[in-house]
Amino acid sequence: MKLLEGHPVIPVVVLDDATRAADLGRALVGGGVPIAEVTLRTPAALDAIATMARNRDLLVGAGTVLTPDQATAAAQAGARFAVCPGLSRAVVERCRMLGLPVLPGVSTATEVLAALEIGLEAVKFFPAATSGGAPAVAALAAVFADVRFVPTGGITAANAGDYLALPSVLAVGGSWMVPRSAPIDEIRELVGGVRDVAAAAGR
Ligand code: 3PG
Repeated sequence: MKLLEGHPVIPVVVLDDATRAADLGRALVGGGVPIAEVTLRTPAALDAIATMARNRDLLVGAGTVLTPDQATAAAQAGARFAVCPGLSRAVVERCRMLGLPVLPGVSTATEVLAALEIGLEAVKFFPAATSGGAPAVAALAAVFADVRFVPTGGITAANAGDYLALPSVLAVGGSWMVPRSAPIDEIRELVGGVRDVAAAAGR
C-alpha cells in the first residue's frame, strides 16, 4: 500500500515494441504520472520493464502476472511490484519470496475473504466495470473495512473519479491514457489529463 502512495492512477501498458518503452516512460514522468504497470502479454514486455526500470523517476511494475515463474522473470527485469488478474496463492507466495509487493485481483466477497486469509490487505478489483463498478467496490468496502482496492478494467477518464471518490480505493488502473501503439505525442496529451482526473477527486 505504501508503494502506491502518491500514485492514484496506474497506467496499464501493453507494449508491442520495447524500443518505445523509454519514450513512454519519459511521457509518464513528464505528465506527472510516474508509474507504469507493464503487462506480460507481449514478447516485448520484459525488455520494456528492464528499459523503464532504468528510469529512476519511474516506478515500474509487471501486470498480467499469471504464474510464479513470470513473477520471478518480472523481478529479474526490474519490476518493483506485480499485478495478477486473479487470486493465485502460488503467485502471491513467489512474490513474497522475491520481496515483490503483489496486487492480486478479486471481484467477489468470497475472493476478498480468501485474500484476507493469506494476509493481503490490498487487492485489485477486476474487471471493475463489468463487476459492478464503483457501487460494487463501495458494497465490498462496507463489509471489509480494512481492505484497500485498486479497481481496474473498463476505467476511463470519465468514470475514474467515481472510484477515486471512495476512501477504500487506493488507486485505479487503466489503459485509457496509454492506447496500444498510439504515437507518443498523443499519449503525452492523454497523460496530461490524468492529473486533472485525480485532482478533481481530491487525490
Ligand atoms: C488490466 O490488465 O488490468 C486491464 O486489461 C486494464 O483494463 P483496461 O484496458 O480496460 O483499462
